[in-house]
Amino acid sequence: MDTNISIQGRGALVTGASRGLGRALAEQLAAKGARVALVAREAGPLHDVVEGIRARGGVAHAVLGDVGDKDAVHKIAGQAQGLVGEIEIAIHNASTLGPTPLRLLLDTECEDLAAVLETNLVGPFRLTKILAGAMALRGSGVLVHISSDAAVEPYPRWGAYGVSKAAQDHLSRILAGERDGTGVRILAIDPGEMDTVMHAAAIPEADRATLQRPADVATRIISMLESAGRAPSGSRLAAPRWDVGAAS
Ligand SMILES: NC(=O)c1ccc[n+]([C@@H]2O[C@H](COP(=O)([O-])OP(=O)(O)OC[C@H]3O[C@@H](n4cnc5c(N)ncnc54)[C@H](OP(=O)(O)O)[C@@H]3O)[C@@H](O)[C@H]2O)c1
Repeated sequence: MDTNISIQGRGALVTGASRGLGRALAEQLAAKGARVALVAREAGPLHDVVEGIRARGGVAHAVLGDVGDKDAVHKIAGQAQGLVGEIEIAIHNASTLGPTPLRLLLDTECEDLAAVLETNLVGPFRLTKILAGAMALRGSGVLVHISSDAAVEPYPRWGAYGVSKAAQDHLSRILAGERDGTGVRILAIDPGEMDTVMHAAAIPEADRATLQRPADVATRIISMLESAGRAPSGSRLAAPRWDVGAAS
């Protein structure tokens, strides 16, 4: 297998691309020559990001939709493929914490737990089911699940979110095993703590100066996508520990 993958000319889909990490990933994929479909629910901020990418000469398209809405997922995938062609890179980045302030698990409504799982786990799985077949037929593709240290550490009050991210990590590993040999790479990536809207909603008292910039994290994640040898299918990788300059 190639150990260095080129982003140039690939069709890519990034969910949650109107701000934070998803925005940075979409911008950097486009800067490297990918045709990018950017997904989010609110039109204004998403169109602003798309316009910014286009102004810098990149190829980007907005796809409005809620990844947690069963009825929207086929439309999201269909529109994205219509706009950028076959999706060769899919980054499941959109996610929800559930209600904030974060609460103890037994104080969490069952409906809120279900809604978090729908957005963070089941929705991405629906999209993967739509996209993975064509990737396997082509013999190449990358599916990325953006994880969290809350997938591993049982932080009090991060219950619904942590459960969803832990399940997503395991889904990633099982899929990777089942798809072994197809050329489709499946990764779970913990970005580490970043200065974003989500982080501010979860930990409003955090010192923002101590948090990573989403653009720096995106650079490491894109290096992972490009480095199949160092980031093989089934890996769970931590962006803060990734050395962009290391040989593939
Ligand atoms: N920030 C951190 O410190 C941190 C740490 C560990 C892991 N992570 C993970 O990193 C990823 C990015 O987080 P972030 O901090 O960049 O988040 P963010 O700033 O809150 O951005 C979230 C993005 O997702 C979109 N979105 C939310 N729900 C959606 C839905 N149901 N359907 C479609 N789009 C949706 C939002 O736009 P709309 O609201 O318009 O839809 C927005 O573009 C997430 O998976 C998060 O769990 C973050």
